[in-house]
Amino acid sequence: MNLILFGAPGSGKGTQSALLVEKNTYRHFSTGDLFRAAIKNQTELGKLAKRFMDQGQLVPDEITIGLIREVLKKLKKNESFILDGFPRNSTQAEALNELLTQLSLKLDMAVFLEVDKKLLINRLTGRRVCKNCGAVYHIETKPPQKEGICDVCGGQVIQRPDDKEDVIENRLNIYEDNTAPLKDYYRKKGLYIEVDGTGGQDQVYQRISKVLDA
Ligand code: AP5
Ligand code: MG
Ligand code: ZN
Repeated sequence: MNLILFGAPGSGKGTQSALLVEKNTYRHFSTGDLFRAAIKNQTELGKLAKRFMDQGQLVPDEITIGLIREVLKKLKKNESFILDGFPRNSTQAEALNELLTQLSLKLDMAVFLEVDKKLLINRLTGRRVCKNCGAVYHIETKPPQKEGICDVCGGQVIQRPDDKEDVIENRLNIYEDNTAPLKDYYRKKGLYIEVDGTGGQDQVYQRISKVLDA
């Protein structure tokens, strides 16, 4: 089963992908995580991406599409994928279509996580991440056991640079203009599934599992 997991910033794409990977055999590709890894490794790609990400802007399409092409090309025959944060606009969606055809891969579902704006802002402003391993926390719903220290690796837990309030506003606007229209795009393809993304993370996971099993 090959999936796109999409939704607004803070809708829980990363959280649900982690649960899906833990309990199944998916390869998880998050363009945001790939860019953050490039920033951490101070590569040319990272330097370029950072300029856009820190403002909450989209990284240019040709770069993002190239990145996804590289990871999908390396996918083994028996592996399934979850795309998290890609595609993010119609150009990327069309490019993905073409790429999947070229690689003889098929998309089975585009799962959309529905969360209202007020909750999105609460999740984003409260999110903290491990600087070292990327583990995701939330100051209210999922704090690390020792404040500021990652439960998984002992690394420093920080706020993502794009989780500052003014950048969040920008990201939500860009999402509305560019990414939300993909709901219709996948509806027309008969691949669209909407899942209620509110409630606890296990509750949301159960809802996703149900549609995947159906
Ligand atoms: P990206 O990293 O993809 O960020 P995003 O889309 O804004 O989404 P987030 O990662 O912020 O949210 P999420 O849905 O993963 O939520 P999470 O599970 O962490 O992209 C970052 C940037 O990279 C972009 O702005 C852009 O610049 C660039 N980029 C990436 N892809 C690109 C592309 N395709 N094209 C161009 N540019 C691209 O959860 C959020 C918080 O809520 C956490 O604290 C979590 O603990 C908490 N939480 C989650 N679920 C629950 C729950 N059920 N109950 C309680 N708390 C919960
Ligand atoms: Mg994410
Ligand atoms: Zn860590």
